[in-house]
Amino acid sequence: MDGLRVRVPAFAKLNLTLLVLDKRTDGFHELRTVFQTIALHDSLEIEFQPARRTRLSIECSVDIPGDNLILRAAEAVLTELNIKAEVRFRLEKRIPMGGGLGGGSSDAAATLLTLPVMMGRAVAAERLSAMALELGSDVPFFLEGGTALGLGRGEELYSLPELPETPVLLACSGIHVPTSQAFADLQRQPATGLTSPIHHNRMKRFQSLVAGVVCPESSSGWMSLSENDFEAAVFSRFPQLTTFRQLLIDRGGLLARMSGSGSTVFGLFRTAAVRDRAARRLTQDRSDVQWVATTLLPRNQYRRAWRRSLAPARKRLGPSVKEFGWIA
Ligand code: C5P
Repeated sequence: MDGLRVRVPAFAKLNLTLLVLDKRTDGFHELRTVFQTIALHDSLEIEFQPARRTRLSIECSVDIPGDNLILRAAEAVLTELNIKAEVRFRLEKRIPMGGGLGGGSSDAAATLLTLPVMMGRAVAAERLSAMALELGSDVPFFLEGGTALGLGRGEELYSLPELPETPVLLACSGIHVPTSQAFADLQRQPATGLTSPIHHNRMKRFQSLVAGVVCPESSSGWMSLSENDFEAAVFSRFPQLTTFRQLLIDRGGLLARMSGSGSTVFGLFRTAAVRDRAARRLTQDRSDVQWVATTLLPRNQYRRAWRRSLAPARKRLGPSVKEFGWIA
């Protein structure tokens, strides 16, 4: 194929804290979370060429079970812009699957961000967010990146000030936790109102954590307020995850938590040297786990990496460049 080709990064995320409130009438759960992108990423190569008939294909470095979100995202963009094209994807997967790091969601968001630029046709931001949410609750976050407060299903997003590029160590055990099962195990009751008294103390704690993230110099203790409502149920099913969390703390982690509905457990460290020492020791002691060193990825770096990757396609945009928002 002789079309335009780009290679873009699809970064992973952590949930620095994650509260699951009541079950809503639409079957989803009401969340309170703080999302954070990290430098670990999949790499997605996209080749695009206008054609008489749409043909989509994907090659992936690993088998992806079930519905591929990349292809669904591509179909959504082509339908939205009423364009027929041949699009080939090549995905190099580095983010563990089913691990609570949002890999599949990030790949989908990468497709939503990239294809319009390659086609030289912008999709309005609100429309892109709606298309993202249709693909999954975590997808809208990856249209922005950085540090963000997430409410509702996680699609009501408010950017928070950047956290520093903190060193991170991930414990990737290969345990797969199906998201819908993890939610069902919580046995949350139907909503009794968002300000229900049963959530009062938890919401205060959440607000204090967010205030600490917003203004770390006045309250560096936000890490001690972090929680993840999935940990109790998931850890009781897979007790080794409790051990990994403890090992990360014993080796100098300032905070150790599970991300999303699991099973990846992450540790935040004061310096890269402490993290790397921890990684070496843990790799020796627990070689059954993949210990992955990375860092938090602030929004400005997230966007810089994206803009750099899309430079070859940007030439096409001409005067319409402003319609594409931060990406162009
Ligand atoms: O939106 P997503 O496809 O990631 O959700 C997968 C499943 O997780 C949903 O079908 C639902 O069972 C559960 N879920 C939920 N509440 C949320 C997000 C997901 O119950 N806020």
